[in-house]
Amino acid sequence: MELTKEEQAMLDGEQGEGVQKAMEIIVALARIYDSKRLVPVTSVQVSGVSYKNLGEAGLEFLNEWADRGTRVRVPTTLNPAGMDLDNWKELGFTEEFAKKQLMVTQTFERMGIPPSCSCTPYLTGNVPKFGDNVAWGESSAVSYCNSAIGARTNREGGPSALAAAITGRTGEFGYHLDEKRKPTHIVKVECDVKEFWEFGALGEVVGERVKGVPYYTGIKPTNEDLKALGAAMAASGGIAIYHVDGITPEARTGAASPEGLETITIESVKDAVDKLNTAGDKVDLCWLGCPHASINEIQAIANMVKGKKLQIPLWVTTAKQTRALAERWGLVDTIRQADGRVLSDMCAVVAPLKDLGFQSIATNSGKGAWYLNNSAKVHFGSMNKVVETAIKGRWE
Ligand code: F3S
Repeated sequence: MELTKEEQAMLDGEQGEGVQKAMEIIVALARIYDSKRLVPVTSVQVSGVSYKNLGEAGLEFLNEWADRGTRVRVPTTLNPAGMDLDNWKELGFTEEFAKKQLMVTQTFERMGIPPSCSCTPYLTGNVPKFGDNVAWGESSAVSYCNSAIGARTNREGGPSALAAAITGRTGEFGYHLDEKRKPTHIVKVECDVKEFWEFGALGEVVGERVKGVPYYTGIKPTNEDLKALGAAMAASGGIAIYHVDGITPEARTGAASPEGLETITIESVKDAVDKLNTAGDKVDLCWLGCPHASINEIQAIANMVKGKKLQIPLWVTTAKQTRALAERWGLVDTIRQADGRVLSDMCAVVAPLKDLGFQSIATNSGKGAWYLNNSAKVHFGSMNKVVETAIKGRWE
């Protein structure tokens, strides 16, 4: 593998020990995957931000880098943390957890990454151009980036994404290459899939059935639906890229041609819905905003709860920037007056839910339902249904 002069200098330690260590990670990965060269990245999304997942060892690893004065050299954003960084106290998070979680984001901040944590960086200004090489972690963000934007990223782990942010490089392998982005199966959808939650159910089914790159026909997802679809496929099948006929950029330019591929027909998503619904009628928490809610979604939720009083806590998780906009539009207040909360920087899946007393959760997210089912009872249905549950006090 060839390195440029600058890359070799980084590897030789000429830009400091932290950069050298980062370049060693990038080069080692590039060699494992037979890259011919490294490519510059225009942005990075770092996963592994929740202290619940990172733990003490992860925090120490980050501190070692930050203590050496190492800083990122391309625009870098963070994945959700395990709590709302500003409002953790009122939600009942312990001082102990909060202290550790804040240490994590402060360490990232010392490296030049702002403490704003979201799995929808593309809604908050980290928007690559079509064809850009980037290094993103977080499976739903990766899927959106590759599929809806047409930028190129592998599914980076926490250390490799951070190493890419520090060096500004990644190995040219996997989804950075044209051939890995081509569709492998046509997925012909013959049932009605129109709402966000149904796209999550569809993603769950396809993730389990297709091992490759799906090319969808028969659906017309909105931007929000693309979030739901990609997130669920990534959860159930590790799918990092897909195409939608007439909608996603590589399908529209013809770069992703479905000609001659095997066709898988989807006639129903009911089995996925049944599988993801594991709770009884009792619900402890209603959760919307997985992937993080857009301003349109927050507006829709505010319209539904306006003038109502919720019986069950309702969390709407979103990015700090989207929350700030929702606050200006009066939506945060409307939801709060109903006793719901618009929370930023966090994700319920990586929050210590059991410690907060939540054992049974209702959500409209296929991905959220998929992961929560590992540790809790779950209800999965439409946004209307989840809000209705919060209002009525039980899942009917
Ligand atoms: Fe985002 Fe957490 Fe869902 S990271 S996609 S809100 S599981």
